Order: sequence, then structure tokens, then C-alpha cells
Amino acid sequence: MSRRRQIYEGKAKILYEGPEPGTLIQYFKDDATAFNAQKKGTISGKGVLNNRISEHIFTLLGNIGVPTHFIRRLNMREQLIRQVEIVPIEVVVRNVAAGSISKRLGIEEGTQLPRTIIEYYYKDDALGDPMIAEEHIACFGWASQDEMNDIADMAVRINDFLSGLFAGIGIRLVDFKLEFGRLWENDFSRIILADEISPDGCRLWDMATNEKLDKDRFRRDLGGEAEAYQDVARRLGLLPEGETAVLDLETHRKKRGK
Ligand code: TMP
Repeated sequence: MSRRRQIYEGKAKILYEGPEPGTLIQYFKDDATAFNAQKKGTISGKGVLNNRISEHIFTLLGNIGVPTHFIRRLNMREQLIRQVEIVPIEVVVRNVAAGSISKRLGIEEGTQLPRTIIEYYYKDDALGDPMIAEEHIACFGWASQDEMNDIADMAVRINDFLSGLFAGIGIRLVDFKLEFGRLWENDFSRIILADEISPDGCRLWDMATNEKLDKDRFRRDLGGEAEAYQDVARRLGLLPEGETAVLDLETHRKKRGK
């Protein structure tokens, strides 16, 4: 395979130059990190599953009119995306208390929130992604007021849609993280959904048992993370019942050095 120019390497994905101007190739790794990369590991087959899961969710969101960077999946670990200027804000939507909000405010994990909360974090690894208020975003010019209105509107729509999608397959959407980007067209830009939506950046609990089906299995050393991601993919109809053949095939290829 010819070497493509690498544009950026993150903790879980690599971005390469795309085939046409304005496009990129997003490659999904098996690498997993937590606590601002203080904890590192791999989840076997995660990249393949997240590529499929994110493709599926972005396609469905596109169908209901949420603009996204997704163009099409290219192969097991890569998708073609639109190049955007990433807004340096992580948008976290919470329906149920868990993780940092439980810790910070002393709310028991699993408490249903009386209303959905949207939080913003400044995307800066050196600072450990600190939580910020909209005041900071306006003050430091990270996004305009119009852009923030679009971001908040989309976050609410995405939450409503995904909460229903997951409820339909017996999963509670506890919380999740979104990233947005500016798509430039001539001198104008508009905000579209970027990055990925997968069990890496969502809390997904089985509705019947409260079992965690997301990256908390890795963060909290619970084990069974690959199986949990597979379960999510299977319930979304992306893996034939009881089949992990695609993943096995890939492992097989790797072993043979291809
Ligand atoms: P938190 O409870 O740790 O703040 O996480 C809230 C949600 O955001 C959870 O679903 C995991 C996701 N998340 C990321 O995707 N990346 C991050 O760096 C962090 C801190 C959280």
C-alpha cells in the first residue's frame, strides 16, 4: 500500500490526507487510553467496531438532518470524512449521573438527572481538558455565540435521537461526548458534527442489568471490554448474531503479517 501523508495522530485515531482536497481518511486504532492517557492499553478489535458503530450512527444522524463530517466507510478500520477545523471544545451530554459529575458533586452513579445537562470542556491535553463555562468560550473566542447555539441545538437533537435508538435495543444512554468542526465553504463556515460516536466516548448501560457496555470497562479494570463493544455492535445489527467472524478474520490476517 502506498504511504499516505499523516495529518494527525490522536489517542484512538489517525488522520491521513484524503483522495480529494477537503477530505481526510480517519483510521481507528485498537489503542485505548483513560485519565488523560495516564492509563494505556489496547482493546482487541475496537477500531473495527468503532468504525462500524460510528458509521452507523453518523449515517442515521445524517438521515434526520444533523450535518456530519462522515462521507463513507472505506474498509474495516477507515472512513472518508470531510476536513473540518475542530472547535476546541468537548461537549458532554448527561442524562444520568456517572463519572466526573458524580465525583465532583457527590451524586450517586445511576441517579436519573431531572433534566439533561450539557457541559463544555476545553480540549487541551496539557491542561487535562478542564471544564469550562460558555463565558470562557465567548471570552477566549473558541467559538462564536451563533456557533454555540448551533452546537447546543445539535447536541440536544443527537441526545434525543440516540437515547431512543439505544432504548430500542435495551441500552440506557447515560452520557456521551461530542466534537464539532467548522466546514469552510469559500469565506463562510458552518458547524457540523465531527470525530466519532462509539462506546469509547459514551456510557452505555444494559437497561435490565445496568452492566456497563463501554470504555468504563477499561477505565475501571472490569474486563470484557472487547465483548462489550461487540455486544453494542451486535444489538445495533452490525454483527450477525453470535458472529465475530470479521474480527477473527482480521486477527488471522495480522498473524500472517498481511
Ligand atoms: P466524564 O464523566 O469522565 O466527564 O465523562 C463523560 C462522558 O464523556 C463519558 O461518556 C466519557 C466521555 N469522555 C470522552 O469521550 N473523553 C474524555 O476525555 C472524557 C473525560 C470523557
